[in-house]
Amino acid sequence: MGCVLSGLKWPRTPSKDHVTPEPLLPTLGLTPQQQQLLIETWELLKQDIAKVGVIVFIRLFETHPECKDVFFLFHDVDDLKLSKELRAHGLRVLSVVEKSVARIENVTRLEKFLFELGRSHYRYKAPPRYYQYVGIEFLSAIRPILKEKWTPEVEEVWKVLFTYICAVMKAGYQEEENKHNEKTPTMKRLEKSQATAM
Ligand code: HEM
Repeated sequence: MGCVLSGLKWPRTPSKDHVTPEPLLPTLGLTPQQQQLLIETWELLKQDIAKVGVIVFIRLFETHPECKDVFFLFHDVDDLKLSKELRAHGLRVLSVVEKSVARIENVTRLEKFLFELGRSHYRYKAPPRYYQYVGIEFLSAIRPILKEKWTPEVEEVWKVLFTYICAVMKAGYQEEENKHNEKTPTMKRLEKSQATAM
């Protein structure tokens, strides 16, 4: 996996909840101590979620301006930096982080939720190559907030969590993309009847 964030173990048999064809999903594989580290640092970050959400997306647009097009396609806004939609999306991303931390000990539900989120991002035309950059900007936004609590171990657990979020979202996106590229039964029938008519 050419992922900029930390590596996860690939591939693994997906959970039974998904419909066929089943995609390959990564495992999260955090130790109980690492889970605890995430929970504790999230407690400190929680108060600043609105701020972090906006910083992440403003920096994302600075480093990858092409991401703006996705939002412009979706929202009719003049100045994205000032837009309430951008703020709302920042908060939504952070609420995904919150849910992920809350479900860290039972990832089956988390996996399903992130997979569906990836599917909806196919509909929003927001491709997976950008998700990992959200993770990178998230890490650089939380570092100054955590101050002396920031350690290599803390950095590692947040990298692993974001890599996981991005990877499961990507699998959902790809499943939706494959579904849309598949020929519908009507298209197949029309092609068949055209071929027999020739
Ligand atoms: C880790 C990365 C990301 C997470 C966790 C995330 C999360 C979310 C969530 C929770 C929603 C609300 C709607 C829903 O539940 O389906 C949403 C909507 C949306 N996302 Fe993302 N997102 C991420 C990355 C991106 C990126 C990189 C883009 C664009 C380049 C993007 C574009 C959109 C758009 C256009 C919508 C729909 C409209 C809106 O809410 O503004 N997302 N996202």
